[in-house]
Amino acid sequence: MRFYNVQKVLSDQFSVTNLQILNISKLFYKAMLQGLNDEFGSLKMLPSYMNKPTRQEKGEYLTIDFGGTNLRIEVMELLGNGAYKIGKSLSIPLDNRKSGSNFTSERSTATDLFGFIACQIRELAEPHKKYFLGHTFSFPTKQTGPNSATLLKWTKELKTSGVEGQDINVLLSEALKANGIHNVFPKVIINDTVGTLLTAAYKSPHANIGSICGTGHNTCYFEPSPPTSNTPMIINIESGNFNKLQFNKYDDLLDRKSEKPGEQRLEKMVGGKYLGELVRLIVLDFVDNGILLCKCNKKLQKEIITSCSITSKDVAEIQSDNTFQLEIINYFINSRFHYSDSLLEDRKILKITADLIIKRAAKLIASTYLGILDKIDPNLKSKQIISLDGSLYGNIPLFQKYIRKSLDDALGEKSGSVIVELIKDGSGVGAAIAAAMFKYL
Ligand code: BGC
Repeated sequence: MRFYNVQKVLSDQFSVTNLQILNISKLFYKAMLQGLNDEFGSLKMLPSYMNKPTRQEKGEYLTIDFGGTNLRIEVMELLGNGAYKIGKSLSIPLDNRKSGSNFTSERSTATDLFGFIACQIRELAEPHKKYFLGHTFSFPTKQTGPNSATLLKWTKELKTSGVEGQDINVLLSEALKANGIHNVFPKVIINDTVGTLLTAAYKSPHANIGSICGTGHNTCYFEPSPPTSNTPMIINIESGNFNKLQFNKYDDLLDRKSEKPGEQRLEKMVGGKYLGELVRLIVLDFVDNGILLCKCNKKLQKEIITSCSITSKDVAEIQSDNTFQLEIINYFINSRFHYSDSLLEDRKILKITADLIIKRAAKLIASTYLGILDKIDPNLKSKQIISLDGSLYGNIPLFQKYIRKSLDDALGEKSGSVIVELIKDGSGVGAAIAAAMFKYL
């Protein structure tokens, strides 16, 4: 009985109906137009100064992928028509518990962060070789050209001091110089969504949408005629900031506790950085109200759950536990909440919580894709490829399924024209393609 009541309460708060999907897609479409025309709204619609590639781009490039969790540097060889080879590469966490350094905290400065990036480049680049560099920087930036991008604000809870409001390419170029690196030439700076779209468009002319469903969330698309410029280009929507949505009490609580309350409201409902935290807030609330893990000392239990953290990987594992007695969830409750008396009902509640959160994320994201498709090809006259990268899309099969189903339900028989494609290495390959497109500039 308890399970069915909880299921009802949660689905009332987290379900998204087909009608709501259509409404959200319309609101998203409207917000896109507002952003394109420089009117007030939640979508910034940032110009990238990138057209689609010719697919003939070739050569060896150095790439930086800076997304907020890891720093990845790669040597990438483009072979043309979608083919590439990854050469030497390195990947280091920005918050490194082992070495005790955290370049994402406010105690770290722009000089520390870009000095660190320059040092990693020195590790990888051969000293006497000349490199053109493509830089994927996965945050909202105001670009005035392919190689100048001012950070508007940190997202994904990053706090490094002195970077907001600065031109990222200037910070990088100064750090390269200060570290005596004179053979690396930064040529372009792009968002990771743009990298994903460039990578897909390197293979197919039908790729017009690039999206990231990972720690953060965002989408870009190819705009043939931006109203404020007469050059066709990819537009970085910064869709994570979309806010014409219905928030429940957990969304509001999470938002209030976040680094930037009121901002990135869609991202806080769909981004991997936040899904686990939503589950934790629900569990805490349920324990407090005697709905979950009842056989315990409530005060102690609350303390434990308050201080633990839950990741999106945990949420995915909880959701996909198909064992008869939900043993994986039992182990999770045991190890994370130090609670060994969980009943099957407790575990079922956790599973439905994870599922509803993942399903809602997929449906909200699909709604935004529908809004974009309405903008670029309302009658779906041509094939449209939505290229997607990121850990949520890549690692959670049900998340992929829910996105597809939402598109199918909304588009009916036209749904066959819309291909959703998983793109691997989008940030690295995309940065190399962008560098190739602008190497002589
Ligand atoms: C950033 C976007 C980025 C996305 C995915 C968001 O937090 O604002 O620029 O594309 O994360 O990494």
